Amino acid sequence: MTTRTRILTGITTTGTPHLGNYAGAIRPAILASQDANADSFYFLADYHALIKCDDPQRIQRSRMEIAATWLAGGLDVNRVTFYRQSDIPEIPELTWLLTCVAAKGLLNRAHAYKASVDKNLENGDDPDAGISMGLYSYPVLMAADILMFNAHKVPVGRDQIQHVEMARDIGQRFNHLFGNGKEFFTMPEALIEESVATLPGLDGRKMSKSYDNTIPLFTSAKDMKDAISRIVTDSRAPGEAKDPDSSHLFTLYEAFASKAEEQQLRNELLDGLGWGEAKNRLFQLLDGQLGEARERYHQLMSRPSDMEDLLLVGARKARAVAAPFLQELREAVGLRSFVNQTSVAASSKKKAVKAPRFVSFREDDGSFRFRLLAADGEQLLLSRHFADGKAAGAVTKQLQSGQALDVRSEALGFSVWLDGACVADSPAFADSAARDAAIEALRVALTPLED
Ligand code: TRP
Repeated sequence: MTTRTRILTGITTTGTPHLGNYAGAIRPAILASQDANADSFYFLADYHALIKCDDPQRIQRSRMEIAATWLAGGLDVNRVTFYRQSDIPEIPELTWLLTCVAAKGLLNRAHAYKASVDKNLENGDDPDAGISMGLYSYPVLMAADILMFNAHKVPVGRDQIQHVEMARDIGQRFNHLFGNGKEFFTMPEALIEESVATLPGLDGRKMSKSYDNTIPLFTSAKDMKDAISRIVTDSRAPGEAKDPDSSHLFTLYEAFASKAEEQQLRNELLDGLGWGEAKNRLFQLLDGQLGEARERYHQLMSRPSDMEDLLLVGARKARAVAAPFLQELREAVGLRSFVNQTSVAASSKKKAVKAPRFVSFREDDGSFRFRLLAADGEQLLLSRHFADGKAAGAVTKQLQSGQALDVRSEALGFSVWLDGACVADSPAFADSAARDAAIEALRVALTPLED
């Protein structure tokens, strides 16, 4: 059996994505999410955005722009869990549980905080001048983002490696203090994509909003064209041979071109193609690849309620994982119901009563099947046919193992897949909301609460 790798990353919602963000983070993340072994959680880190930005308009605009960019770029919300951090109340709740075990000394060493202190000292200010508790606690919130979903891999930029290490540190401490030998949290690993492009900006330095050298992504063809016309080149005239390898215009071209296209432009530059014409080629290439996505982007931006719906479905999916897990963590630290006092036996008994049921049966043709009934008796799944009881049993066992569920919705129903094969189907529901609620009930039903 292969367990899918859970990949999780957040995007801070303070800016408008540019071409560099697209090539460096968005495009690779969307590609990675298409891998059958990937169980991707991508979210808008809008609580983090509040740390850096106190302009509500900008926060709101950026959340929408980033959501639209990822969706227009081809993110398939049926495959990935795509949500806004601020739609998951379990995140701030977990943040507090983690804050209570995070060592202050650990946070004192965070690069972002230290850099702000150093700057204050340089200016002769109070060391903590202008530093909010949000900035200081930033790594704890990020640890909650990661640990809440037990992510295995966290794709981030180099500046974020320390934060992922802190998440491990804090998670380990929690495991140690409250786990009683059980590892509540998976230890996450930072994933640094060495192969993806860091695009140069107009002036040849790394493309970045802080250098004001970016090429806009989806605003309009004209904006993209205008920016491309400002790419700095050397002063060789048309007809003079140009060196592709010292030209960042060529580097930009390479990041999007096929090998053949790249070779062709290389030859033409060596043969004296003018920079103006080369810029034109770059524009044509980008427009060809991104034009359709740009249209989808503008469509999405003009229908915000569609995006709202998609993100709320994503939030529901995420909460179906987060809520039962947080419940377990609350119990672990002693925030328990008064009714089922401390006794672990009592609480597991209660869960056993509430548990969903697998009911196996044999068809007239001799094949074996099972149904999964929710705690309230509603039928969630009817399995496919299995040759023998052992095969059917292995599947029910695997479904209860806590591995990420591969649930595929189609029309008014859904199906559940294991290792590339469909193993069970839902009944048909009245509408897609009822279907989504049933998917959520399924996830909750199959989340192991205790072992
Ligand atoms: N801090 C990250 C950044 O600025 C964004 C982020 C927030 C994040 N939470 C996360 C990234 C969790 C990975 C995992 O890039």
